[in-house]
Amino acid sequence: MATEPGNVNEFRELARQVLPKMYYDFYTGGAEDQHTLKQNVDAFRRIMLRPRVIVDASKIDMSTTVLGYKISAPIMIAPTARHQLAHPEGEVATARAAAACNTIMVLSNMSTCTVEDVASSCNAIRFFQLYVLKRRDISAQIVHRVENNGYKAIVLTVDTPRLGRREADIKNRMVAPQLRNFEGLLSTEVHTDKGSNLEALVKGMYDTSLSWEDIGWLKSITNLPILIKGVLTHEDARKAVEVGVAGIVVSNHGARQLDYTPATISVLEEVVHAVGGRVPVLFDGGVRRGTDVFKALALGAQAVLVGRPVVYGLAANGERGVRRVIEMLKDEFELTMALSGCPSVKDITRSHVTTEFDKPR
Ligand code: FNR
Repeated sequence: MATEPGNVNEFRELARQVLPKMYYDFYTGGAEDQHTLKQNVDAFRRIMLRPRVIVDASKIDMSTTVLGYKISAPIMIAPTARHQLAHPEGEVATARAAAACNTIMVLSNMSTCTVEDVASSCNAIRFFQLYVLKRRDISAQIVHRVENNGYKAIVLTVDTPRLGRREADIKNRMVAPQLRNFEGLLSTEVHTDKGSNLEALVKGMYDTSLSWEDIGWLKSITNLPILIKGVLTHEDARKAVEVGVAGIVVSNHGARQLDYTPATISVLEEVVHAVGGRVPVLFDGGVRRGTDVFKALALGAQAVLVGRPVVYGLAANGERGVRRVIEMLKDEFELTMALSGCPSVKDITRSHVTTEFDKPR
């Protein structure tokens, strides 16, 4: 790395310097006007902290549990596709960094390394992110492989019946190599003359008819806990709890799907209230600072997931880059806890933040 970044945001520029434009655009971009992309980050700036003073800050314990798994801090790795476009070691390097940081990695269904390679490369606690495919038999096979390889949960992404309109990918005619998870099962190399090849791939591959009843199907083929990723409203949060999910991830897919959805941090509390503590609520979208992690926890998240910064770290410096990104966020979060008078994560409460968002319904 040329210069050592001083914060997570600075990894983005390093990634830009090393990546081909097509891949950098793929990682960094959002849907259409990218309004939500900006909002995901900006909305954190509209939340202020209410620190308490004269609290013993000599020992800060950031550790927490997610689905019963203890992690060093409430900062997890979000599922992001195709890590080998960022670095030759791909998801294996990311998983090793997760293990070194003692956190959970959610492996994308669209990973470039196989489920098996990632599992055998390290002892990180791993969850697996699933898209339900038109070919349900292939999805079922993958779920069984995931289960046999020691992944601890399925994170079902529900915001992608079609791919969002990502204009940079369309202009670049984004192409991506065959995904090895699907080798011998399905071709994931699509070539179209117009637009993004990824969009064409998703159109042909994902099950657009997925509905709430299908959670029953997924439950029938696996014993793993199922989390739903992509919930933004109290209506859907309640439905998710009703169908018996083990957790919810408040997410707008890093603003890559439907533009003009609200910043995720602005709807977190709505979902948390609807869930009422029945299952854990995780959060992602725009987390770039330790204070962001603190704010999400104060608004009721059990933990946050980080997407782009991890990929930028990977592009900049492989496993070490990802480790630095997670460590930086952890260091900042620890400092925030100390300066806010919260020696452990359970001390972080709603009264430690003030927001200008609407009150939850
Ligand atoms: C994603 N995301 C994503 N989500 C998912 O469920 N499956 C996937 O394969 C991907 N792939 C993916 C690729 C890239 C390049 C990005 C940036 C994002 C969404 C991801 O899990 C997460 O919701 C967001 O990235 C969180 O926002 P931030 O941290 O990137 O702002």
